[in-house]
Amino acid sequence: MLDSDVRCLVVVGSQWGDEGKGKLVDVLAKDADWIARYQGGANAGHTVRVGEQQYILHQIPSGILYPGKHCVLGNGMVLDPVTFFDELDELKGRGYEVEDRILISTRAQLVLAYHKLLDRAEEQSRGDAAIGTTGRGIGAAYEDKVARAGIRVADLSNRERLRELLEAGAARAQAKLRALGSDETVDVEALYDELSSLAERLLPMACDVGLALSRALDRGEKVLLEGAQGSMLDVDHGTYPFVTSSPTVAGAATTGVGLGPTVIDAVLGVVKAYTTRVGNGPLPTELPPAEADHLRELGAEYGATTGRPRRTGWFDTPVVRYAARINGLTALAVSKLDVLDTLPEIKLAVNYRLGGDTLEEFPADLSRLTELEPVYETMPGWRTSSAEARRLEDLPATARAYLDRISELTGLPIRFVSVGRRRAQIIEVGG
Ligand code: GDP
Ligand code: IMO
Ligand code: MG
Repeated sequence: MLDSDVRCLVVVGSQWGDEGKGKLVDVLAKDADWIARYQGGANAGHTVRVGEQQYILHQIPSGILYPGKHCVLGNGMVLDPVTFFDELDELKGRGYEVEDRILISTRAQLVLAYHKLLDRAEEQSRGDAAIGTTGRGIGAAYEDKVARAGIRVADLSNRERLRELLEAGAARAQAKLRALGSDETVDVEALYDELSSLAERLLPMACDVGLALSRALDRGEKVLLEGAQGSMLDVDHGTYPFVTSSPTVAGAATTGVGLGPTVIDAVLGVVKAYTTRVGNGPLPTELPPAEADHLRELGAEYGATTGRPRRTGWFDTPVVRYAARINGLTALAVSKLDVLDTLPEIKLAVNYRLGGDTLEEFPADLSRLTELEPVYETMPGWRTSSAEARRLEDLPATARAYLDRISELTGLPIRFVSVGRRRAQIIEVGG
C-alpha cells in the first residue's frame, strides 16, 4: 500500500476532522515501521476496526493494532497521562502487547485536571459564541505551552521541580477559573500524588522521539505521521476562532515529532466523500435538517470522542482545494464512499459565490460567510452497494464518475477509496 520510494508519509485530515484517518493509517501501517502522532491530544477519536472488534484511539497512534509497529507520541501533542493509561490498559485488556512499542516525547506538554476545568469554564463563558470543544482541556494546555507555563513529560523526572511547576500552574489556573466565575478548586496535593505515581509508568516510555525517528529513517525504515483533527480546524488556516488550538496541517508534522521538513516524501489528504463537522462554526455545504439527519444516519455520524451528532453536508471542493494547497497534498484518500450508495443523486459544491465574486477556496473572513453560497453540481447516484469493490473497475460507472469529478476539481489523484469500516474494504488506485 505504501509506495516503495516513500519513506515518510504524512496522513492529514483535509476537512473538519473525522475523515477516516484512523482507518487509513491502520491500513497503511501494515507496510510502515513507525507511526507517530504530531499534534492534538485526547480530543482526537480515531476509529479502527479489526475483524469484529472496534477500537477508538485518542492519543495512541492508529498503527498500534499491528503487532511489532512502533508508535510515537510527539512533542507537538498535549498528553493527558490519566486517559493515556486508560487507553493503554484497555488495549492490554483486549490482548495487545503495547507498552514496549510506545515512545513518548520528553518534550510533550501535559494536560492536567485544571486544563479540563478551564476548558469547560471558558466554553461556558463564551455563551452563544461557544466553540463546542471536546472538553478535553486541549486549548488550556496549549495556552500554557505558548505562555511558557506548561509542564512537560521531562519534568516528571524531577519531583521537586514538578511540585514547583504544579504549584505555579495550579495558582495560574485557579486565578483564571475565578475570573471566569467558576467555583472549582484545584487540588495541588492530589495532582502531585497522581502524577508521581503515573510518572513511574510513563518515564520508561519517554525519550527524544525525534532522534529515534531520524535513526529509523536512516536505517531505511518507514514512518507515518498521523494527523489529528483536520485542516479546517488548524489554528492558523482553519475557520478561526472555531478551530482547535494546534497546527494540524502537514507543515506541523515534522516540528511535532522533532524531524526536519525535508524528510517528508508525500502527503496523503484524507477526505470523506461528503462533509461533516462536529462543534460550532461555518459549514457552507451543510444540509437542511431532514436531509442532514438522513446522511448522518447513513454514515453513522456521531463523534468518536464525545458521541455528539456530527453536522453533515455535501462534498465541498473549495475546502479540499484549499487543503490541497496548504498541506501540499500529493494525493487524496476518499473515505465512506459506501455511505452514498443509496442516494438517487449526489451534489458537490464546485465553488462559492460571495457578492459578485466566485471563490475557488475557503475565505479567511468569517464575518461574510453568511453571504457565501456554494455553487452545486448534481450527479446521478449509483444505487448499488460499493462495499465489496476492491478495484476501481468493481465500482459502478456513476461512482467512478463522481470520484473522477472530485479528482478533476481538486487537481489531485485519488490514491485510495474506502468503502467500509473493515481493513479489506479499501481500493488502492494504481497500486
Ligand atoms: P478519524 O477521526 O479521521 O479517524 O475518523 P473517525 O474514526 O472519528 O470517524 C470515521 C468513522 O467512519 C468511524 O466510525 C469509522 O469506523 C468509519 N469509517 C471509516 N472509513 C469508512 C468507510 O469507508 N465507510 C464507512 N461506512 N465507514 C467508515
Ligand atoms: P479527529 O482527530 C472532529 C473540534 C471540536 C471543536 C473544535 C475545538 O478525531 O478528527 P478542542 O477540544 O480541540 O479544543 O475543540 O475542534 N475537534 C474535532 N472535530 N474531529 C476531531 O479529531 C476533533 N478534535 C477537535 O469539536 O469544534
Ligand atoms: Mg475522529
